[in-house]
Amino acid sequence: MDKNDNPIAFLDSGVGGISVLNEALKIMPNENYIFFGDSVNAPYGTRTTEEVRALTEKNVEFLLERGSKAIVIACNTATSAAADYLRNKYKQVPIIGVEPALKPAALNNKGGKVLVMATPMTLKERKFNKLMQQYQEVAQIIPVPCGGLMEFVEQGILDGSELEEFLYSMLTEDIRTQTGAIVLGCTHYPFIKDTITKVIGYPIEIYDGGMGTAKQLQRTLERSKLLRKSDSIGQVEVINTLDSERMITLSEKLLMKE
Ligand code: DGL
Repeated sequence: MDKNDNPIAFLDSGVGGISVLNEALKIMPNENYIFFGDSVNAPYGTRTTEEVRALTEKNVEFLLERGSKAIVIACNTATSAAADYLRNKYKQVPIIGVEPALKPAALNNKGGKVLVMATPMTLKERKFNKLMQQYQEVAQIIPVPCGGLMEFVEQGILDGSELEEFLYSMLTEDIRTQTGAIVLGCTHYPFIKDTITKVIGYPIEIYDGGMGTAKQLQRTLERSKLLRKSDSIGQVEVINTLDSERMITLSEKLLMKE
């Protein structure tokens, strides 16, 4: 077997990172993938930085043992806590992270209001605050910590009144009015994009970093001469630490979601 047939590993605290994998599948369907969800330890976003770093390191070790040729940390929280540290420690494979798509949202909404929905930890970390500083002259950036929101996606709840009520409690009237754009700073949230739009109550631009990350992965693989040579459709293996039938079924459902 050609070493470029080895899988690209995507990892997240749960099923959210599948939203990033779905974008990679669109542009590189011939690659082999492993999706690793750590649902047993989810959520990461309300843990300490040290805990998230240790969990992510353990998951990366496991994925390297499985022969992964590249790692995508498809989790904003884990990227903030661990990406730099892991890139320093494991130089043998490319490690790609995600970040909130604040740049296009701010540049397309100059002087307007831009909400950033993410976990409390992502919004507290230095990485996001540096990014926010860069664009706060361009647009009015409002961080909206969404502790408790990823749990809906982990339960497979992507719409309905319970989720809407929860979103209303975060996207209060004050926050909702006259917003130009929303940045989804957590990889679970693209799956509830339609419900977020419904709660906002008017058409709004929603940005997520999934396609940007997929393209960065493609460029990195190309540069490192790691792209798979075969044109045949690749395999996707799903692993979840919760190891329940429910999580695998949910992951497969999300993998098919547009
Ligand atoms: N999917 C994750 C992110 O992008 C985090 C959810 C969590 O574990 O709190 O931040």
